[in-house]
Amino acid sequence: MENRVAVVTGSSQGIGLEIAKKLAHQGNRVVINSRSAEKIDQIARELQEENLEVVGVGADIQSAEGAKELIDKALEKWGRVDILVNNAGINRDTLFLRMKEEDWTEVIRTNLDGIFHCTKAAIRQMGKNRWGRVINISSIVGLTGNPGQANYSAAKAGIIGFSKTLAREFGGRNITVNVVAPGYIQTEMTDKLSSQIKEQMMERIALKRFGKCEDVANLVSFLASEQAGYITGQVLIIDGGMAL
Ligand SMILES: NC(=O)c1ccc[n+]([C@@H]2O[C@H](COP(=O)([O-])OP(=O)(O)OC[C@H]3O[C@@H](n4cnc5c(N)ncnc54)[C@H](OP(=O)(O)O)[C@@H]3O)[C@@H](O)[C@H]2O)c1
Repeated sequence: MENRVAVVTGSSQGIGLEIAKKLAHQGNRVVINSRSAEKIDQIARELQEENLEVVGVGADIQSAEGAKELIDKALEKWGRVDILVNNAGINRDTLFLRMKEEDWTEVIRTNLDGIFHCTKAAIRQMGKNRWGRVINISSIVGLTGNPGQANYSAAKAGIIGFSKTLAREFGGRNITVNVVAPGYIQTEMTDKLSSQIKEQMMERIALKRFGKCEDVANLVSFLASEQAGYITGQVLIIDGGMAL
């Protein structure tokens, strides 16, 4: 049992929801989030019925105001934020020559600016408490690049430099900052891909199966735990051996 307060951005479905559930089942109090207040409140109610300490906040983490609203809600409700999982992310895939400026800005604003805003709103009080875990969800393509994902790869690579810098700036205050870089995980984001691309991906995966949201949640819950207290500034790849 951990009994910490966690905020997981973008947790109405997929990887974020699985992380939130895992942390809640371990005894943490968890704030879940998506842009849709209606959707997230409904999920929070379902989890509360399982006796989990969860509250939902509809907020758009693209803006400083949305991020502040999210973190303030956690502080109001439970007085602290110990664990921040920056998970919210979108993709707008297209080859670079066809990529419109809004495809670029929308992806950077959600996947990179969002992490800036949420971390900014949460990390100062972690420092005061001399304990904190920031876990940023990047992607294997932030390390390797991928045709059709110049915007997404740039944002996901940016997360890595950001996290290493914060690991150095906040290590003295007992805050760890790490990056989780998943490969292909089965969610709505990857369901949209064509069967041809899925087959090509599968050929490259050493473990011969796509990742599950629980695979990522298990790693995040370890990084959020007391046992991971001497790991910081790292990029943990979880891709079934796809990018070997
Ligand atoms: N699936 C994969 O194979 C894979 C691989 C590598 C990395 N990742 C990364 O893992 C994370 C989760 O991916 P996923 O596959 O679980 O995605 P997903 O199923 O599309 O879920 C994304 C979540 O983010 C929320 N969201 C999007 N924009 C938001 C915003 N501006 N403010 C607040 N919430 C927002 C969505 O809710 P609303 O739409 O209701 O706001 C949803 O809850 C992302 O960062 C993704 O880039 C995924």
